[in-house]
Amino acid sequence: MMIYGIGTDIVEIDRIKKAMERYPQFVDRLFSIDELVYLGSKALNPQHVAGGFSAKEAVLKSIGTGLRNFKWKEIEIIRDNKGKPFVRLNGKAKDYVDDNYIGNIHITISHSKNYATATALAEVSIEKRWIDIESMLIGANEESGRSIN
Ligand SMILES: CC(C)(COP(=O)(O)OP(=O)(O)OC[C@H]1O[C@@H](n2cnc3c(N)ncnc32)[C@H](O)[C@@H]1OP(=O)(O)O)[C@@H](O)C(=O)NCCC(=O)NCCS
Repeated sequence: MMIYGIGTDIVEIDRIKKAMERYPQFVDRLFSIDELVYLGSKALNPQHVAGGFSAKEAVLKSIGTGLRNFKWKEIEIIRDNKGKPFVRLNGKAKDYVDDNYIGNIHITISHSKNYATATALAEVSIEKRWIDIESMLIGANEESGRSIN
């Protein structure tokens, strides 16, 4: 396994709580339907919302980009059936990781009374590199085939 990058983030839970109170659209803006189902199961407790937000920021750092022209919802923090979080990317964020040969992104989240924190680890995808190299070779073969004819 080759590491592409790591990212970490820490969020004040109170800041998230205040944002949720001030802007009712806050969670809908940031989280996908699947994420909202999970957060809803936690009664939208700001601790978990802050953890989810922190995780998205950690992912953005692990791939070295920041938010750029990505949308928050394109970086989804989903849970498996044991409650372990994992990362699912869509849209421009997915295109970026594919273009840069980034594979699986691992995520871990923690919170205490006042803070939520997350750490992400992005792997290099050898497979994506191979797929690209293979298609380049096929392209080159076709090119040389054409020039012979
Ligand atoms: C890169 C980004 C994720 C940094 O997060 P942040 O919450 O602004 O700031 P943090 O204190 O958590 O992190 C700062 C550290 O991130 C690191 N960092 C900056 N750019 C980075 C990048 N492209 N990739 C990885 N790490 C980066 C730096 O080490 C920085 O510390 P430094 O200034 O002492 O060098 C951020 O700029 C970003 O894109 N955030 C999302 C957009 C946004 O506007 N959020 C506002 C909240 S609604």
